[in-house]
Amino acid sequence: MCGIVGYIGDKKASEILLKGLSYLEYRGYDSSGVALMTRNKIEIFKAPGKLNNLREVLSNQQNICNRSTVGIGHIRWATHGLPTELNAHPHTCNCGSLVVVHNGIIENYKELKNELLKYGCEFKSQTDSEVAAHLIAHEFQKTKDLLAAMTSAVKKIQGAYAFCAMHKTLPDRIVVARKNAPLIIGVGEGENFIASDIPAIIEYTKKAIYLNDNQIAEVKKNSVKIFDTDGNLLENKIEMLPFEPVALSKMGYKHYMLKEIHEQSDVARNVLSGKLKDPKSPVVLEDVKLSTNDLKNINRIQIIACGTSLHAGLVGKYILEKFAKIPTDIEASSEYIYRDTIADKNTLVIGISQSGETADTITAIKQVREKGSHVLIITNRPDSTMARLADSLLPVNAGIEVSVAATKSYTAQLLSLYLLTLYMTQIIDEKSVNDKEIISLKQEMLELPNKIETITNDTTSIKAVAKKYSGFKDFIFIARGINYPTSLEGALKLKEISYINATGYSAGELKHGPIAMLDETMPVLAILNKGAVYDKVMSNCEEAKARQAKLIGVSNYIDRKHKDLFDDILLIPNISDTLSPALNIVVLQLLAYYIAEYLGKDVDQPRNLAKSVTVE
Ligand code: M6R
Repeated sequence: MCGIVGYIGDKKASEILLKGLSYLEYRGYDSSGVALMTRNKIEIFKAPGKLNNLREVLSNQQNICNRSTVGIGHIRWATHGLPTELNAHPHTCNCGSLVVVHNGIIENYKELKNELLKYGCEFKSQTDSEVAAHLIAHEFQKTKDLLAAMTSAVKKIQGAYAFCAMHKTLPDRIVVARKNAPLIIGVGEGENFIASDIPAIIEYTKKAIYLNDNQIAEVKKNSVKIFDTDGNLLENKIEMLPFEPVALSKMGYKHYMLKEIHEQSDVARNVLSGKLKDPKSPVVLEDVKLSTNDLKNINRIQIIACGTSLHAGLVGKYILEKFAKIPTDIEASSEYIYRDTIADKNTLVIGISQSGETADTITAIKQVREKGSHVLIITNRPDSTMARLADSLLPVNAGIEVSVAATKSYTAQLLSLYLLTLYMTQIIDEKSVNDKEIISLKQEMLELPNKIETITNDTTSIKAVAKKYSGFKDFIFIARGINYPTSLEGALKLKEISYINATGYSAGELKHGPIAMLDETMPVLAILNKGAVYDKVMSNCEEAKARQAKLIGVSNYIDRKHKDLFDDILLIPNISDTLSPALNIVVLQLLAYYIAEYLGKDVDQPRNLAKSVTVE
């Protein structure tokens, strides 16, 4: 949440900061600001609302923008205080000599503020972050050394932070610090960059230093020095960034979300590539470090994740129990961390996260690591904090996902869970490679990319249904068995981007309460895969129809009963129950997308959301 960009070099800082912030808009977008260093003066510009507002403010400051080659910028997702200009970053000390941008939450900000008020600090905003500006400035008065001031300040701060600070008397440096919030330093020739995420700087450099927790760095145009909190100089570890700049283009689509939905067939090919060759070969997962012995000793699996990743994990539970036959629990990380959970060295903990930076999931992983459990991370960001905490890593290779609503990363997570399940099953029971059901599942997985394409190549009927139902205020999604998570994910997609109140239920639960809400104003969308639970879901649809609910079916089966029962039916290619979640969801993503589009919503940046939720 929130985005940070910094630049020090010979180019126009304002242009690099604005561009960088635009690539971080998916992390938060309720206000933004920059601080530009000019000859021994720091100029601050802020604007509430979208980044365009700041762009406009800066367009009237060409004189300053032309002169400044050092600066820091921030795009905010409000935690403390409204998204106003006053609360936007950068924040300053009383005299404006020191500026700071901050990602994270300062938990002891009230105590620090009370202390700082005694020294005459005047607070202008309602944010926790402003405390950091006053605190660093207060420490600076003692030594006139920004690095030392930052080091003393972070020792007093509790919570999560990525800080970027400048002082007007030291125009040749930016000082940064990190704890529980990502921060990287992009290394250039005669210039250096700072960012809270790769997209902000990938256009300029592929070389970066990932700052670790409790590290502080002094960044100049020709040098980067990293220190621990005791002031010891640490070695710079320069790594290559894993993305290409082209990943950040809409490629002619109206929204990133639509582009990312359409990318899913290729994403599926990527996920499988090198891991699943043909239906009769074993699955190869090079980075999974579980030995045969480890796997044979694992007596339970716990999956922890949030949001869409949690829904992928729910599908994982079905298949892990079905094939690997290991009892599997799944829980939202935010709940998991506040329970007396039972995990030990015989527990395999699977953390799933698109970003790899979700605070609740990181906390949960840290907790179980202390209990000796093997932590396997399934993430789209092999460079993330979670990936670095993992014992085993399963990168999902979906490519950078810009739209706040997760789509292609979900499909990639699902396929990775299928691969992991098959991999574990073949280790636990070598003969399973010859099992008919497993061979047929692998065959279907290899065919999946083409089936996804069949859906994305012709969206006419989905668009028509979207148009017809875009006026409804509420929706219910129902399914049973392995598609129950699909109903949750479909409903989440719809509510996230269209703000329509949509809820997913297991179809069997409908009559235990939710049915009370059904009438002609509440459409029910049913996922009907021809398989074990098909007839049961059909009966639940009859029950809904009897309450005059409008019915939409998503099915892989042509059934003459559909005509009388459903108001609309969306047909998908034939697929087994087991793999159907990976195909059904594509229809629901497109439906949510086109409904939001008809309603004119801001699809890629829905209100109140952020792509990466780095606060608990
Ligand atoms: O990066 P993560 O997968 O850990 O993020 C988890 C959720 O915040 C995320 O899935 C969220 O629900 C998305 N907005 C879903 O579209």
